[in-house]
Amino acid sequence: MILVLKIAAILLLSFVIVFACFKMVMKRLLSNHRFFATISKSFYNYFYSLKDLHHLRTNNFGYAPIDEDIAHYDPDLQYGIQLYKELVKNHHGYLIPEKSAVVEVGCGKGAGAEFLLKKFNPGTYTGIDFSEKAINFCNKTYKQIPNANFICADAHRLPVDHNSVDVVINVESSHLYKDQDKFFSGVHNILKAKGKFLFTDYRRVKNCSIDTLEKQISDCGFSITEKRIITPQVKNACMLASERRNRLVEMAAPRYLKKYFRHYAVLNGTKKSAMLANGEIIYFIYHLEKK
Ligand SMILES: C[S@@+](CC[C@H](N)C(=O)[O-])C[C@H]1O[C@@H](n2cnc3c(N)ncnc32)[C@H](O)[C@@H]1O
Repeated sequence: MILVLKIAAILLLSFVIVFACFKMVMKRLLSNHRFFATISKSFYNYFYSLKDLHHLRTNNFGYAPIDEDIAHYDPDLQYGIQLYKELVKNHHGYLIPEKSAVVEVGCGKGAGAEFLLKKFNPGTYTGIDFSEKAINFCNKTYKQIPNANFICADAHRLPVDHNSVDVVINVESSHLYKDQDKFFSGVHNILKAKGKFLFTDYRRVKNCSIDTLEKQISDCGFSITEKRIITPQVKNACMLASERRNRLVEMAAPRYLKKYFRHYAVLNGTKKSAMLANGEIIYFIYHLEKK
């Protein structure tokens, strides 16, 4: 009996040690820029190639309530499109002038792009994403739109001319970038003088407070012209969309990834949903101007 207990204790201890080492190695690897980029790019390439999610052309938490002019969109896209609409307006109106040069970094499958192109008719729109699947999808789906083009590239190295852009858009993508300063400086570099950077995303307050974020923004040469904390509206969208998103997860995610997908989709009852509710995650909109 004692021998059995000893063997069980040794096995348990070995398991704990192996698990702790595995966690440590993963943490080290994930803090390595290249490894992290490879993992997140593979995830998005996989996510965007799921057949059951073909119609899902927005990929953000969303914003609620939705406006009347958004209500005709597929219900799985409405909250995501509304977030784009919220981002590009202030109390005086919309911030994308007709015929302007617009670049979006992290465009995903491009429903936001299509919305912006139809509503504002910019002179040029360039969507950038590091997922080949997303860019191939966009190039096929929106090929009829003459002033749009889509490029596969990394947010840390924007393949756009210096001083050539009027408005840069960035929706729920920057939290994935390892080097925020490099991204902000890259955006600053491609914008014309007084160009606008319309920026929405979330941060885990534990990892990056709003003060830290605003210091990074200012150090990279931007002034803040508008700031809105939209956590309640984003939380509301997640809550209202939870049932539909749960159906998509059940349909599309393999069994071993279901838990991860539920968390990713911010379904009711997940840790991420609780973090939005209790303030551990803050969702913001910033309108920035190149100084
Ligand atoms: C949460 S999705 C948002 C997509 C889109 N903005 C939307 O709201 O539907 C994040 C997007 O950022 C892209 N992304 C993440 N890291 C990137 C990087 N370093 N460079 C370019 N794109 C990146 C992903 O491929 C993904 O399409």
